[in-house]
Amino acid sequence: MIRKYKFGDPYPTDAIVKEVDLSNEKFPYFIKNMDKEVLELTYKMNKTDVVYGLGENMHGINKRGFHYTSFCTDEPIHAEDKVSLYAAHNFLLIEGEMNFGIFIDCPQKVEYDIGYTSFSILKITVKPVDSYIYIIEETVLNQIVKAFRELIGESYIPPKWAFGFQQSRWGYQNEEDIRTVAKKYRERKLPIDAIYLDIDYMENFKDFTMDKKKFPDFEQLVKDMKKENIRLVPIIDAGVKIEEGYSIYEEGVENKYFCTDINGEPFIGAVWPGRVHFPDFLNSKARKWFGLQYKVLLEKGIEGFWNDMNEPAIFYSEKGIKKAFDIIEKYKGKDLAIYDFFDLKDSILNVSNSIEDYKAIYHNVEGNRISHYLLHNLYGYHMTRGASEAFDILEKEKRILLFSRASSIGMHRYGGIWTGDNSSWWQHLLLNIKMMPSLNMCGFLYTGADTGGFGGHVTYDLMVRWIQFSIFTPLFRNHAALGTRDQELYQFEETNVFKQLLDFRYRFIPFLYSSFIFASKKADMLFKPLHFIYDADERSKTVEDQLILADTVMIAPIYEQNAMGRYIYLPEEMLCVRINKEGNWEYVVVDKGHTYMHLELEEFVFFIRKNQFVYFVNPAESVDDLNEDILTIIGYAKDVEEMECKVYKDDGYTKAINIENAYTISVKKRRKEWFAESTNKNISFEGVHIFS
Ligand code: GLC
Repeated sequence: MIRKYKFGDPYPTDAIVKEVDLSNEKFPYFIKNMDKEVLELTYKMNKTDVVYGLGENMHGINKRGFHYTSFCTDEPIHAEDKVSLYAAHNFLLIEGEMNFGIFIDCPQKVEYDIGYTSFSILKITVKPVDSYIYIIEETVLNQIVKAFRELIGESYIPPKWAFGFQQSRWGYQNEEDIRTVAKKYRERKLPIDAIYLDIDYMENFKDFTMDKKKFPDFEQLVKDMKKENIRLVPIIDAGVKIEEGYSIYEEGVENKYFCTDINGEPFIGAVWPGRVHFPDFLNSKARKWFGLQYKVLLEKGIEGFWNDMNEPAIFYSEKGIKKAFDIIEKYKGKDLAIYDFFDLKDSILNVSNSIEDYKAIYHNVEGNRISHYLLHNLYGYHMTRGASEAFDILEKEKRILLFSRASSIGMHRYGGIWTGDNSSWWQHLLLNIKMMPSLNMCGFLYTGADTGGFGGHVTYDLMVRWIQFSIFTPLFRNHAALGTRDQELYQFEETNVFKQLLDFRYRFIPFLYSSFIFASKKADMLFKPLHFIYDADERSKTVEDQLILADTVMIAPIYEQNAMGRYIYLPEEMLCVRINKEGNWEYVVVDKGHTYMHLELEEFVFFIRKNQFVYFVNPAESVDDLNEDILTIIGYAKDVEEMECKVYKDDGYTKAINIENAYTISVKKRRKEWFAESTNKNISFEGVHIFS
């Protein structure tokens, strides 16, 4: 059951797709305190209550014990004390005496104190109060998520090639660099499906331009790469460079498509190209106009984009930088004691992404002038929505890859997200693991982190361990920042292990893709915490470093340097599949309970749940090269003689997706032998390995 409440005068975020009537009943579970300015909701937690949700955020799957702020923030250093990252995902799921979900549907800042100030108190602060709040009640956790996900609509589905391995780096300068990456991956037979174009492909960082000197024949490059089954994925930034003669700038000014300042003039901020204006994505005409600009790249054969800097990130504003220079001037030549020195230092440190700047920006929403500060969390969402809506006009047939850095709930229907600028830290590998189910709850299925870490210098072992996890995530992209150690997989002395891991990924893609489509269409999570499956198992409540994938597979990645193994908790017996150092697969049934597994650096395991199976194909160097008609089945039959699974398979790009077209694989035991059959006559089975 879903109950809807209205506070103040909420802004329509378009986060939900279903009509729900306002409830007349008293607001449940929380003590509600509201005045003109602020709405405070207070909930008393029991000792064992678990609070799930909040999508892209720091800390655990259980969010208890910290505080968080929903305010999309350009936060490259995700240290443990950070309260906001790039997204604002206002959904919580409380497992207590009664289980329920709560969704705060509003675009402004929302604060969550989840047992931080007082361990037993969950307090949500909405300021200003204007919001719709939904309370979702079902008995089991999965059902609450499902009801919520049905409320917010189906998750974005990318083309199938976007499940392949992707290589990115801020620093690829020209055509030569791109061709080299492609060549080296192909030479070493390391599978790859996409190479990213970061800001340097543009002419002076101007959106929808191309630096002709660096890319003299871009179309040819796109074609040549496509022949290799490699797609190029350019970045699009939110800020538009202020430059006479640059058509996007000129059209935007002429049509009043940019956000404005207090005087109604286009707001001036600065990002990569220097001074920019920000397109007013909250204005439907401006949104459409900007979205249609992607056409120039689509026409050159591009099939995917990543939208960046759309919190929006602001390096400085005119006003902000002037203030900083005034302070520097004031202190010039002086003997600075501590507080003056701090003042000087902070004048520059605080110049970026300042709240004063966000308060100085205005949107024109169908003729109404509204402060950006109040709509902040919708900016990246609506940039991505604009692109997606334009693709519906520009690309009728084909799915286009699209994902964004900033997001809020609602955007999950238009694109995926990557989790922003993480670092080459072991703790960010763990964060990546913990974040996946939280993101899935909030509708974001096409997601993953910068594998290997964006900032900092990756080590060989961190890359290996990280990939042992990323082979399971829908978005699997190696991306790194300018100035960091090279981290393309061929840069490492030993590439054999990467080949084995990528081969595994490609063998697994048909299963992952099919499971992804079902998760989107059935409002399900792809990654679940163990407790969502084993809800009677108290121990599983606290397991945060193992996940269930597609209800079938359990993963237990290693995320500590020099670890030669780890403890794994099994809520029931499972089939353990070990990929050993030589790349061979070994099988053993492991009993319920705790078990220690010795896993050297090049080894990893995954588990198949009881009475379930997974299908694999033969590896290939790209998704287009996969032969999905020849399958190998690996499964665990504990107490059944027959098992079944649905497989959704298509051309990988057609927009219309009908899961009714899925085919069925059945595996059956006859006279001690297992065999498989399929309702799709094109499918044949290379191997059927069922353990019991
Ligand atoms: C931002 C993005 C990062 C990108 C860089 C340069 O930091 O988050 O992925 O590489 O900008 O465009």
